[in-house]
Amino acid sequence: MQHSDPWSPTSWQAKQALQQPVYPDAKETDRVVSEIAALPPLVTSWEVESLRDQLAKAAAGEAFLLQGGDCAESFDECDSDNIASKLKILLQMSLILVHGTRTRVIRVGRMAGQYAKPRSSDSESRDGVTLPSYRGDLVNRIGFTSDERIPDPRLMLRGYERAALTLNFVRALADGGFADLHHPEYWKLDFIRHAKLASDYERIVDGIQESIRFMEAVADIRLGNLGRVDFYTSHEGLSLLYEQAQTRKVPRREGWYNLSTHMPWIGMRTAQVDGAHIEYFRGINNPIAIKIGPGMTPEWLTGLLETLHPNNEPGRLSLIVRLGAGNVEGKLPEFVETVRKAKRDVLWICDPMHGNTETTGDGIKTRNFDNILSELKSSFEVHRQLGSHLGGVHFEMTGEDVTECIGGARGLTADDLKRDYRSQVDPRLNYEQALEMSMLIAGYLRGNGHDAR
Ligand code: PEP
Ligand code: CO
Repeated sequence: MQHSDPWSPTSWQAKQALQQPVYPDAKETDRVVSEIAALPPLVTSWEVESLRDQLAKAAAGEAFLLQGGDCAESFDECDSDNIASKLKILLQMSLILVHGTRTRVIRVGRMAGQYAKPRSSDSESRDGVTLPSYRGDLVNRIGFTSDERIPDPRLMLRGYERAALTLNFVRALADGGFADLHHPEYWKLDFIRHAKLASDYERIVDGIQESIRFMEAVADIRLGNLGRVDFYTSHEGLSLLYEQAQTRKVPRREGWYNLSTHMPWIGMRTAQVDGAHIEYFRGINNPIAIKIGPGMTPEWLTGLLETLHPNNEPGRLSLIVRLGAGNVEGKLPEFVETVRKAKRDVLWICDPMHGNTETTGDGIKTRNFDNILSELKSSFEVHRQLGSHLGGVHFEMTGEDVTECIGGARGLTADDLKRDYRSQVDPRLNYEQALEMSMLIAGYLRGNGHDAR
């Protein structure tokens, strides 16, 4: 199905929009949306374009994408330690992946806007009281009182401001000494108690510094760009009023940009071809992604490719596949085949988190490190067998020493989860697990003779 109807930032409003809050006060909601629309954008169109070029390279096997962050950011955790440690773990992981893949690594955080969550039910009941479900800090509050749960449009404005504060700090860090590849020793290893992991990391950092010194000595230059890193943001484009408010035209460029983030994605729960989210996403110029789970069918995927990727522009569309370790071999080949038949180029990304969520005997949501790794390895393998290419990975992770996922080098058990489980939503890899995961991927790619560039 090709959409030929006119598009505007509000044309989604004529379609069915799933997972949207019901705001009690329409006037106040309009006022907030207009206020956000009049405030400056969070990102710029040239950054968005630059990310799209880089994603095109990743789709072609000339770069690798690392995307990661919290399942849901919270307004309360918008502080310097949290932001710096998230940036740090992403930088460290990317360094390990650069070293392992000999390929440029594109860093994209689930950051500065990952505030809205899809829910399986619109309401939640406790002891005979029924209230709206918590939908993320952009919409309402987690406490179980009607004051906290009734959707408040002003939280969209708070979200915009929190995103701006986060981005401001990330940009300052990424531009300054914090990210300087001449001094990766600034990114001290926190929370690493596993000696082999620490020494492997030190070895990689030493190797990189040695290469930099070598290059600079041979070429008699200082690799100035190493003082800053590119860092991009992404979030699930779930709350369409929030996205609409930040959808702009810019001087001297055609079309519309969502300037709340570089790379918004569509969750599978809201990916109906004739639904409001697809209507909104088809009209923006940003590189976009869709989450694809086991319920995706060839017909559905074909409809999405035709609607969202009609001109096959390089870097436009990424598919974030999240099947569960046991489903990759059975399902992924059909998706690859469907994309081939439609004659589209996409960037294939593996999200090894969301298909591997389980509940412990104590009722705690967790994920097992081995299943996460296994989904990744099967995905690399299936793509390789099909002559396709997995060009990126998507993690829920944190730079903190939490205990939310089980396994890893220090063998966290279900009992350990009670020690420091902080996520309000999905369990994340902790700092040490994230570092280890990137080393295992890098080692795996090297071991398989991954094309070294
Ligand atoms: C998420 O990425 O947090 C999420 C809700 O994922 P999915 O849409 O893949 O379930
Ligand atoms: Co999640």
